[in-house]
Amino acid sequence: MRRSLTNRAACIGDLKMLARRRIPGFAFEYLANGCNSNRSLSGNREALDSLYLHPRYLTDCDSSSLQCTLMGQRYSAPFGIAPVGLSGLIWPGASASQAHAARQANIPFVLSSLASISIEQAAEQAQENFWFQFYPPTLNEVSEDLLQRAWNSGCRHLVVTIDVPSPGYRPADIRNGLSVPPKISVRNIWQSICHPAWSIATLRHGLPQFASMKPYIPARSDMADVAHYIRNTLKKVVDIKTLKTIRQQWQGKLIIKGILTVEDAKRAVSAGADGLIISNHGGRQLDAAIPSLHALSTIRRSIGSETALMVDGGVESGVDIARYLACGADTVFAGRAFMYGTAGLGNAGASHTTEILLRELQQVMEQLRCPTVADLPRFLK
Ligand SMILES: Cc1cc2nc3c(=O)[nH]c(=O)nc-3n(C[C@H](O)[C@H](O)[C@H](O)COP(=O)(O)O)c2cc1C
Repeated sequence: MRRSLTNRAACIGDLKMLARRRIPGFAFEYLANGCNSNRSLSGNREALDSLYLHPRYLTDCDSSSLQCTLMGQRYSAPFGIAPVGLSGLIWPGASASQAHAARQANIPFVLSSLASISIEQAAEQAQENFWFQFYPPTLNEVSEDLLQRAWNSGCRHLVVTIDVPSPGYRPADIRNGLSVPPKISVRNIWQSICHPAWSIATLRHGLPQFASMKPYIPARSDMADVAHYIRNTLKKVVDIKTLKTIRQQWQGKLIIKGILTVEDAKRAVSAGADGLIISNHGGRQLDAAIPSLHALSTIRRSIGSETALMVDGGVESGVDIARYLACGADTVFAGRAFMYGTAGLGNAGASHTTEILLRELQQVMEQLRCPTVADLPRFLK
């Protein structure tokens, strides 16, 4: 870990503070907030905070390894980078540096359909650590082309997000003009001027785009046209029929994201899912949504070990990752933590975030006297 970076940011909380200072308020609020009154956002935090682990100091444990195998692929740690749309608004080039960092650390990187770099650019950076998150388009030819491009670029893990049947109600984004179509207000311009590092980086990269969707958007569209195109082209409701169709079209691993109930978990598995991501979208969709941790414990008991069970929501430390693993997750994703790192420190941020999480998780494992990540559930009682 680079000493100069550690001095500035020793934990995810430090990165969040740096991010708040370095990017305009509208971008920070887009990232940090949940929906409505942020109840589901804080629910994830509260659920994690109230879970305690039981160390076994008098057991033999020569070493603690973070390595794991997930759906047949070996990774250096049981966590990865969750998909974040409009990533270039938060920090220009964020997804490229995160994809690169994931490859270097050998952890999964999931590119959002709505990220600011394209499938091909992400694949070049993340290589075999590249996963693609898919909001299925309503037009079959667009859907098939996106899947083909992902496959051709080497992607073997497709993550289909099912939890956006309706856009999340996010008061801060509405106030800030991050609506469809977006509004550029004097306040936003002023906030940008007051954050020169972000403004210069934005000038260098250009305005954030939906890069993977660009080939399908009519030429000479302005910002409002693009926003309308995206809103009308992506399916709102992803039903079982859609999942079965995708299963037939996709030869790689199929992962369904946004599962919160046993019923949905079973349906997704019956549609052919290889893995599930238990998620309430970081509290951004349904303010009354159950915390991911509570859903995970119930679903783990009802799903066979042949289905990979992943989870996200509220991860702010290696301790949180250990908590999720102890409750039966095979791997854990973090969204905001990596974005705080990138927004706070620029290109070095994603690697630094990874380092922090690795170090913290390693420390928890050694402290518990836990030899492998698969042993963590033993420390729940
Ligand atoms: C700003 C932002 C944008 C997001 N965009 C997407 C997206 O495009 N697709 C998706 O499946 N999930 C998206 N998510 C949800 C994340 O993938 C993940 O479920 C969530 O961030 C996990 O919670 P955490 O941020 O507390 O780690 C987004 C989350 C944030 C914070």
